[in-house]
Amino acid sequence: DQHRARQKTLEPLKLSHEQLLEVKRRMKIEMERGLNKETHAIAPIKMLPTYVCATPDGTEKGDFLALDLGGTNFRVLLVRVRNGKRRGVEMHNKIYSIPQEVMHGTGDELFDHIVQCIADFLEYMGMKGVSLPLGFTFSFPCQQNSLDESILLQWTKGFKASGCEGEDVVSLLKEAIHRREDFDLDVVAVVNDTVGTMMTCGYEDPHCEVGLIVGTGSNACYMEEMRNVQLVEGEEGRMCVNMEWGAFGDNGCLDDLRTEFDVAVDVLSLNPGKQRFEKMISGMYLGEIVRNILIDFTKRGLLFRGRISERLKTRGIFETKFLSQIESDCLALLQVRAILHHLGLESTCDDSIIVKEVCTVVAQRAAQLCGAGMAAVVDKIRENRGLDTLKVTVGVDGTLYKLHPHFAKVMHKTVKDLAPKCDVSFLESEDGSGKGAALITAVACRIREAGQ
Ligand code: BG6
Ligand code: GLC
Repeated sequence: DQHRARQKTLEPLKLSHEQLLEVKRRMKIEMERGLNKETHAIAPIKMLPTYVCATPDGTEKGDFLALDLGGTNFRVLLVRVRNGKRRGVEMHNKIYSIPQEVMHGTGDELFDHIVQCIADFLEYMGMKGVSLPLGFTFSFPCQQNSLDESILLQWTKGFKASGCEGEDVVSLLKEAIHRREDFDLDVVAVVNDTVGTMMTCGYEDPHCEVGLIVGTGSNACYMEEMRNVQLVEGEEGRMCVNMEWGAFGDNGCLDDLRTEFDVAVDVLSLNPGKQRFEKMISGMYLGEIVRNILIDFTKRGLLFRGRISERLKTRGIFETKFLSQIESDCLALLQVRAILHHLGLESTCDDSIIVKEVCTVVAQRAAQLCGAGMAAVVDKIRENRGLDTLKVTVGVDGTLYKLHPHFAKVMHKTVKDLAPKCDVSFLESEDGSGKGAALITAVACRIREAGQ
């Protein structure tokens, strides 16, 4: 019957404990391949060195500009960091939009737009003509050769501006500033959002040695032993590694878990074949998985009385916001129907039950996969240090993690189940990654001054 037919379709999206343990195991293998000099070139998880070697210690100080590009919002910030008795951070920021034409235009257009926003911000703050050190949160995979040289390996998520891949984003930014001939900036550090988030949370909690983003995209970073970071000379101490775990599975190692719906979402994305793990987890894609399942049900006459509306055929209608609303516990089915109606989908009461179940299954799998990845990370840290048990904090940001009513809970439980020897706390970042980028910039400035 219809119920059974739907359950059969959803079955492959429900992962067992054994399957999740297997995901954790494979993640660990791929992490090691990414770190290893010999296998790095062909490893999908890039494990990129960040040149960030310590978490904050409270001595950071100064005034900084920060940019935060790559999540839902593009922000320009002024960050004031004080040390000593008045230790603390004061921030002012403004959100700017990046129109889709700019995301998909030329690199010059994108960076001219960014510089235009900085100019507007300086004017707005009454700081025209002031030149401050700048920390740039740039949330894409970059090969860093130092803190202030960062070559974009490839665009991910919704960006596709031409002429940027293979280029140093600091140079691209500086060139755009020079084209404008209006002001100058001292770009000191480029950081991934995971790293900025780890630093933001590390300012409050010294155990914070992992950063996690579950938003538009998904990724993690953590403090790895220098002896294991084979791409960088030196054996002593630790360095933060930007995993770029979104690319897990790009070599096919997760194909047995991917469903026809994951494949469909991937094929129609801006970067087919790339970021396969991210496409099973993050906000930019979950709604699309749901939509593909609903289309399949409808085609088979198992939903919406078998009628596929134009709306249902429209890409991107199910935003993260919607997935979160629909699963909220206090919502009566009538309200679920109201949300669907708002999206342009007319449903019966039965339809709304089915839609809600699909959302639950897709989000639950995402949270469990994310938890399996995180279990591999914390267990690796524990093993690196030869410890029986590890106490560690993960700094987290991203709209899916923060807004979804069940994601965090399911993810935490999965980490507990799969990495029982680790005592993991999760700390939500309240201040975004710009604060962390400013802290990193502060340390770099201090070292630079000391060296002069
Ligand atoms: C923000 C951070 O709070 O979260 C960004 O400041 C980050 O750096 C973002 O990219 C991730 O979440 P989302 O949901 O906006 O992609
Ligand atoms: C994508 C980017 C990565 C970023 C993540 C979260 O996976 O490649 O750099 O950290 O999204 O924003």
